[in-house]
Amino acid sequence: TILVLDFGSQYSHLITRRLREFNIYAEMLPCTQKISELSWKPKGVILSGGPYSVYEEGAPHVDHAVFELGVPILGICYGMQELAWINGKQVARGEKREYGPATLNVVDQDSPLFVGVNHSRVWMSHGDKLHGLPTGYKVIATSDNSPFCGIAHESKFIYGIQFHPEVTHSTLGKIVLKNFAVDICHARQNWTMENFIDTEIQRIRQLVGPTAEVIGAVSGGVDSTVASKLMTEAIGDRFHALLVDNGVLRLNEAAIVKQTLCDGLGINLTVVDASDEFLDKLKGVTDPEKKRKIIGNTFIHVFEREAAKIKPKDGKEIEFLLQGTLYPDVIESISFKGPSQTIKTHHNVGGLLEDMKLKLIEPLRELFKDEVRHLGELLGIPHDLVWRHPFPGPGIAIRVLGEVTRSQVEIARKADHIYIEEIKKAGLYNKISQAFACLLPVKSVGVMGDQRTYEQVIALRAIETSDFMTADWFPFDHDFLKKVASRIVNEVDGVARVTYDITSKPPATVEWE
Ligand code: XMP
Repeated sequence: TILVLDFGSQYSHLITRRLREFNIYAEMLPCTQKISELSWKPKGVILSGGPYSVYEEGAPHVDHAVFELGVPILGICYGMQELAWINGKQVARGEKREYGPATLNVVDQDSPLFVGVNHSRVWMSHGDKLHGLPTGYKVIATSDNSPFCGIAHESKFIYGIQFHPEVTHSTLGKIVLKNFAVDICHARQNWTMENFIDTEIQRIRQLVGPTAEVIGAVSGGVDSTVASKLMTEAIGDRFHALLVDNGVLRLNEAAIVKQTLCDGLGINLTVVDASDEFLDKLKGVTDPEKKRKIIGNTFIHVFEREAAKIKPKDGKEIEFLLQGTLYPDVIESISFKGPSQTIKTHHNVGGLLEDMKLKLIEPLRELFKDEVRHLGELLGIPHDLVWRHPFPGPGIAIRVLGEVTRSQVEIARKADHIYIEEIKKAGLYNKISQAFACLLPVKSVGVMGDQRTYEQVIALRAIETSDFMTADWFPFDHDFLKKVASRIVNEVDGVARVTYDITSKPPATVEWE
């Protein structure tokens, strides 16, 4: 395992990502990690980039014990400045920020770090730079603007690079990471998804033991389905999945999930129809954040109540709660950065742990989304479910703008169903990251046959994104939009007009609420 110490760069998680592409396992921890508290010994350490200046008061610094581990170290950007700072403080504010492409010029052709990458494009993003070599180091690469683009302390196997090898703009950057991990650290390339399944099943069995039982919520999405299938493979019917129908799921969702998970995948699933309870609580509520809170709290309440009805065979209590947490969520919580502003409160089941005194089990916490999909395919989960677009916890409640009632939900659901059906028919579903229909709380005049109509408006949204932090609207061709609009107006009672949302994120968000 390679240890990545995160100094808070927005790219840090990509370091582990790239290494995994070469089947090398890496784990990211905050830069403040005490080495004496690690329960394993890394084969090598990578110090990430970060938004700070090493010479500023309060700038983060690595535990010096890292240098006593006797393993190779690679400092990237801030990580390299940290190496220099510790060894002679040769770091200064650059005259100007360097941001963008540069050409890597390898001056030490024998350096194992740069085998196969000379003259490739690398990506720079830094303000500070080295103005001299730290003691014991030599220059191994330069670029037009950086005389110290790559440095090495050869006897100690410590390397520093000014560019970011982890971003795809550094065309051969991942080769640099591989060179470091495989040729310099001798990390093994044995991390595969098949291995992951086996070791994870063993780990779950050990953790849960021979008799304890586990409960988990499923939503019909890929993460909870994959996590549930993995649990079922590990402990069979001692895993209890619970689907709470909150009245704001997609059209026929509860029935479809039951069929796919129970009948298809053999998951021990109970479906609870709590739609009246949720819709009652949502009566008269129009504020989006209030809707989220009501749905989140009602969910916890219903889940606890229904979970209490599930009685493990030997009369014991349920001990564990399964959660489909992914690596990006883990990174979000361990990343070395200040509290980021909450734009929207996202629904989760965290509150259940404290209330129900359950222990958490998170089999996907090491995986990225595309790895979860790959895992899903290997576990035999149907392709359509594995590649399903994400769906927000508060569901259609935040896609019915204004008050959420059963009839409004019904309109939004039907329109959404038609839209997604047409997207699939046109072969566009996998090109789009997320698509849905929103029901707007305004009425608009129309004419149908000879009749004047005065009915609501549907807004269609489709976006392309890699991380949902920024997104672009999807450029459908006009005939496609024409067809969807015509079907929705003709087939869904209560809708007289359809619009297509052409705002990117930012400034808009993906959802309308
Ligand atoms: P926004 O609207 O914040 O959406 O640009 C980004 C992604 O997050 C989803 N989303 C949510 N997911 N609970 C969730 O579980 C929520 O309250 C929530 N709000 C937005 C949204 O669907 C998109 O994928």
